Amino acid sequence: MDIKDKVLVVTGGGSGIGETVARELAAKGAKVFIGDINQTAIDKVVADIKAAGGSAAGTTVDVHNEEQVKALFAKAAETFGSVNIVVPCAGIIRDGLMINTDKETGKVRKTMPLADFESVININLTGTFLTLREAAAIMVDNGWEGVLFTISSVNKIGQVGQMNYSATKAAVGMWPKLLSGEFHMKNISGIRVVGIAPGYVGTPMLTGMNQDALAAILKDVHIGRLIEPREIADLMMYVVNNEAIDGTTIEITGGVTFGPRQIAK
Ligand SMILES: NC(=O)c1ccc[n+]([C@@H]2O[C@H](COP(=O)([O-])OP(=O)(O)OC[C@H]3O[C@@H](n4cnc5c(N)ncnc54)[C@H](O)[C@@H]3O)[C@@H](O)[C@H]2O)c1
Repeated sequence: MDIKDKVLVVTGGGSGIGETVARELAAKGAKVFIGDINQTAIDKVVADIKAAGGSAAGTTVDVHNEEQVKALFAKAAETFGSVNIVVPCAGIIRDGLMINTDKETGKVRKTMPLADFESVININLTGTFLTLREAAAIMVDNGWEGVLFTISSVNKIGQVGQMNYSATKAAVGMWPKLLSGEFHMKNISGIRVVGIAPGYVGTPMLTGMNQDALAAILKDVHIGRLIEPREIADLMMYVVNNEAIDGTTIEITGGVTFGPRQIAK
């Protein structure tokens, strides 16, 4: 599928990976509709894309709010006449152990607050569900073709301290298989579903992470650096152009090993 003149709807498009996907696909000729909880961030990205000669618009949305997600797609369709590429990038982390024990007494001194667990589930999992559901509904009803993405993570395999986050990323990493299977069963052709599972990408999200933990993790990344958001956007453009990629989740990790480096013998 050629990206030119296709309509991209990207949630979390005000920052990080979503922002870069919006800018890069706009530069390739896509019409970009941004949904984010942060209006100031939307305004900046939209203004920059327009200043560079691209087409962009946006609206505030809380991806956990069903009515707002419905409205997001209605507005995108009204503004640009279609919906073709959907990238649900809105996401958060609230890392922590389920129970923290006191070094001296060995007794539990702190537990993961329910709000930290639920907010990650609400935005990363339920928000992605609502985004994909509304996208698929409007695309199927109008016969619009394209690609639905999910944004998983290399931490889908289970990262200690991310009981909430890893659970959401494991789930959305599985969904491309389930959804493309569902579309196949119902003879819905022309809408592919592809997951992207990045390793550690240089975005504001990582500034919210425990920096000691991040430094330790980077020692186990073969390329020895954070992935650039542009490298994620490049992979998405490749996926859009290549119809054979469907019903799967692709890792882009820079070679994360998640273990002690082997000592050469
Ligand atoms: N940065 C990484 O290393 C990395 C790695 C793997 C996966 N991911 C995933 O990529 C996605 C984007 O991450 P990022 O690093 O670009 O993060 P980011 O913090 O830079 O951007 C996230 C965006 O989501 C928006 N947002 C938050 N809550 C929202 C809500 N309820 N409704 C609408 N918008 C909301 C924020 O305002 C922000 O603009 C996330 O799903 C994240 O889990 C990131």
